[in-house]
Amino acid sequence: MTAIIPAAGLGTRFLPLTRAVPKEMLPIGSKPALQVIVDESLEAGCDDVLVIISHAKELVRKYFSEDPQYAKRIRWVYQEEQHGLGHAVLQCASAIEQSEQSNNRTFLILLGDAVISGCAASKEMVALSRANGGASVIGCEHVPPEKVSRYGILKVEGGRIADLVEKPSIEEAPSDLAIAGRYLLDAKIFDFLKTQTPGKGGEIQLTDAIRRMVKEAGVTLLPYAYPGKRHDIGNPQGYYETLKAFVEG
Ligand code: UTP
Repeated sequence: MTAIIPAAGLGTRFLPLTRAVPKEMLPIGSKPALQVIVDESLEAGCDDVLVIISHAKELVRKYFSEDPQYAKRIRWVYQEEQHGLGHAVLQCASAIEQSEQSNNRTFLILLGDAVISGCAASKEMVALSRANGGASVIGCEHVPPEKVSRYGILKVEGGRIADLVEKPSIEEAPSDLAIAGRYLLDAKIFDFLKTQTPGKGGEIQLTDAIRRMVKEAGVTLLPYAYPGKRHDIGNPQGYYETLKAFVEG
């Protein structure tokens, strides 16, 4: 299976540090967060890892290229203009479509600034997909009602995801399950990303393309609520809480 790790974002929530250091290289213990995430994908059985960076983030490539264990498994994909997560993933279309010829219908996406503790999230999502005939899976976590308006929230019907609602109010929220940094998707998503128009913030949103894939192609999409916790290292407060959680176990 292929893993895509988008790490080309601008990191504006972590300025001015991100002028010098990509946020994905911030340490969790002695490893950069991105290495923790690459290791999660390898543990899930991925033999092909596509990391998306920009030329401003060559430091990331240099770090991994110096370790032969990673150098042979990682392919580098460039996103030169930051038009959003959906646009970043779209840069991997040809690389994934090649592997599709070997019957690889699904692939993983692990956000480069999201670390999951307390479970092997990607591995467990792969197992859930296999047990359900290769269904697509979205990693998610329960959030308190006052926080639903910050996230993409899942509408679940009969155990499947029927819809995804971006940043709903408490009243509109169809559940308390927030999309949380990991996706296992059918390669059909590229048909939808290729025609996806800009959404919120003028960016090509992955959530919008997934929504269309469910509604227009009828792809089965399952929620996987982590038994662990998702940490966002993309802002100083989130990073601080991540370190606390890892240090305190
Ligand atoms: P975020 O939206 O959290 O990252 O994207 P960002 O754009 O870097 O953050 P801010 O808002 O400027 O602070 C989640 C992941 O997707 C990647 C980011 O690097 C991050 O790991 N991403 C995001 C891309 O690769 N390309 C994009 O155009 C946007």
